[in-house]
Amino acid sequence: MLPRYDIAQSYDWNYDHAPSQPPEVEVAPCAGRWSLCGLPLNSPLGVPAGPLLNSRWIAYYAALGFDTLTYKTVRSAYRASYEPPNLLPVGGAPLEDEGGSVRETQGAYDSWAISFGMPSKDPEVWREDIGVARRALRQGQVLVVSVVASPQPGWTVQDVAADFARCARWAADAGAQIVEPNFSCPNVCTAEADIFLDPAASGVIAAAVRDAVPELPISLKVGLFPNGERMRAMVDAVKPFVNAIAATNSITAKVRAVAGEPLFDDLRRGIGGAIITERCLAETKLLAAITRDAGLELISVGGVCTAADVRARLAAGAANVQVATAAMIQPHLALRIRQEALTA
Ligand SMILES: Cc1cc2nc3c(=O)[nH]c(=O)nc-3n(C[C@H](O)[C@H](O)[C@H](O)COP(=O)(O)O)c2cc1C
Repeated sequence: MLPRYDIAQSYDWNYDHAPSQPPEVEVAPCAGRWSLCGLPLNSPLGVPAGPLLNSRWIAYYAALGFDTLTYKTVRSAYRASYEPPNLLPVGGAPLEDEGGSVRETQGAYDSWAISFGMPSKDPEVWREDIGVARRALRQGQVLVVSVVASPQPGWTVQDVAADFARCARWAADAGAQIVEPNFSCPNVCTAEADIFLDPAASGVIAAAVRDAVPELPISLKVGLFPNGERMRAMVDAVKPFVNAIAATNSITAKVRAVAGEPLFDDLRRGIGGAIITERCLAETKLLAAITRDAGLELISVGGVCTAADVRARLAAGAANVQVATAAMIQPHLALRIRQEALTA
């Protein structure tokens, strides 16, 4: 049995108990030619920001057939994780929009509420560890580093942009091949949560990151847009500065316990897994047309669970397909998808 993230334990426990050695498994070659932002890839399969807490988790999933590996979001200063549960299994009707509700589930599950609050180790720790992660990758694999600002009271958009830019520069110096500013975090209530819904602020921050890392591609992580107009406005604002859009950073919902009482202080949480598959496919289809017009690549994230989901996202126009929840529940998932959908 392959090691897995233990959802009964804390973020720090899972950080410290990453698999010590990458497994030696045979990875089927992928038919076709793949790339992201001009970087050649062995396959279009990736893991988005989240599951890969450090270089040992990166090396582990890189050995299991994922070729775009994203280092979980880092900050310019230490930030503790929320208390467990950080991942709470949930079920219910498929989520079609923000603001729905889901119920805690017991037994088998394919979806969960995500509640970390974007923790970060000290910059000295992650800057060194990113170098280790990069050295663990093989040819045809790419290291993305997700970064976010940590706004303080009284900060202007320029201050937030400068903090994003500082993290991006550090990530680039440490070995990132793509930098991914995270413009959407459904589980934090402060100003870094919904930047993607503000085109003007998104443009200012994207420009600052571009200035900080002129040599690297930039992908922007965004959440679920309320409509096509908002999508287009944000893409128009950032297109001079970035290379790709990564969507969707989960769908938010309120979470109720099995017996019905509100959890997480009745605040929304991002939901990942099969419960968001259909909505995220629809979002990919809408965004594909807009990003294509803008000359940007699209990374499809959210609810990808099967080989059929991967095929559907590629057919919709995604250049890269990334899996968080399903890859954590089934670490061998990419091996199977490669056999079923992408074998050379
Ligand atoms: C354990 C976990 C931690 C996450 N942490 C981050 C994060 O730090 N930054 C980020 O941009 N997204 C984060 N996410 C969101 C994922 O990147 C992804 O957008 C979301 O889970 C939807 O994909 P899925 O349905 O495959 O899980 C996290 C997701 C999970 C499951």
